[in-house]
Amino acid sequence: METRPLGTTGPQVSALGLGCMGMSALYGTADRAESIATIHAALEAGVTLLDTGDFYGMGHNEMLIGEALRSAPAARREQALTSVKFGALRGPDGEWGGVDGRPAAVKNFAAYSLQRLGVDHIDVYRIARVDPGVPIEETVGAIAELVEKGYVRHIGLSEAGADTIRRAAATAPVVDLQIEYSLISRSLEQSILPTTRELGISITAYGVLSRGLISGHYTRDRRLAANDFRSHSPRFQGENLDHNLALVDSLRKIAEQKGVSVAQIAIAWVLSRGEDIVPLIGARTRERLTESLGALDVTLDDADLTAIEAAVPADAAAGERYAPAQMATLDSER
Ligand SMILES: NC(=O)c1ccc[n+]([C@@H]2O[C@H](COP(=O)([O-])OP(=O)(O)OC[C@H]3O[C@@H](n4cnc5c(N)ncnc54)[C@H](OP(=O)(O)O)[C@@H]3O)[C@@H](O)[C@H]2O)c1
Repeated sequence: METRPLGTTGPQVSALGLGCMGMSALYGTADRAESIATIHAALEAGVTLLDTGDFYGMGHNEMLIGEALRSAPAARREQALTSVKFGALRGPDGEWGGVDGRPAAVKNFAAYSLQRLGVDHIDVYRIARVDPGVPIEETVGAIAELVEKGYVRHIGLSEAGADTIRRAAATAPVVDLQIEYSLISRSLEQSILPTTRELGISITAYGVLSRGLISGHYTRDRRLAANDFRSHSPRFQGENLDHNLALVDSLRKIAEQKGVSVAQIAIAWVLSRGEDIVPLIGARTRERLTESLGALDVTLDDADLTAIEAAVPADAAAGERYAPAQMATLDSER
């Protein structure tokens, strides 16, 4: 598979990474055996980057990845790079309790993640949301100590804004910023992307399909469990949803002309944004994985890009990408 560099100081990774969140949390029930088969199929296809968070299913996702790695052929296991987020606090009912980026907490989170994943190091380690109560220098400094000790290889960031990125990068080398980036989530293009480019930091893009909304598979009548992220995401509600699905219909016409799927167009567009962008695909079945990986074979020429951006202009989405309380936690949106 085509590879891309993770920042100027990080490893080469597959051009598409696999985001494993939906295998444990936030998008309704997932099938465990199919999830593991999907991770194995991704590794077999040459995907090397597996993204998770210790809070995805309160450790469930890391244990799932650990099981998949243990049962994968040794050669595939050795190629796999783990990208882990920490810091989000949970409760036994699944409630969210803020974020903890204190150095002592960073080391504690890492110790548990290493156990659950069953690995001796984490390849890229990042706080999920910048802790407003702890200077980023302290959080990143704690990860840098883990790097010195060999428990972590590289430092990443998640949903950090330009100022925080600069401060973090002045503390220790940062290889990537994980942030939402899709045809309908482009706010990072204003100040964040120029900053990461100036500093030699890559983007691992999540929500490339806007959580399935622009995948071409999402329908108006889809029933969601109460704990499904999309049941309270502004873009999936009422008139917003109608508006956003109309954008998908415009995209579908372009996809049909090119003989590819809507999801493939959406992923290929993010891939086209630059060699420093690595989309994370949220497939949790082999069927969706195959469709997503097909995006690597889609070439978008200038005419295609013009048609896509005319169908879905930069600020075309109705609704913010998170509900207000969650938007307020995004350093990247300040
Ligand atoms: N740093 C952060 O703050 C943050 C936040 C969110 C996610 N992430 C990471 O980024 C990863 C990707 O994010 P995401 O899951 O929201 O991405 P996404 O690709 O936008 O959404 C994945 C959803 O799209 C649907 N889908 C439809 N067609 C698909 C296809 N061909 N391939 C894949 N999915 C398809 C799936 O729904 P069905 O399975 O229901 O069909 C799945 O629930 C996550 O797994 C996580 O590791 C990071």
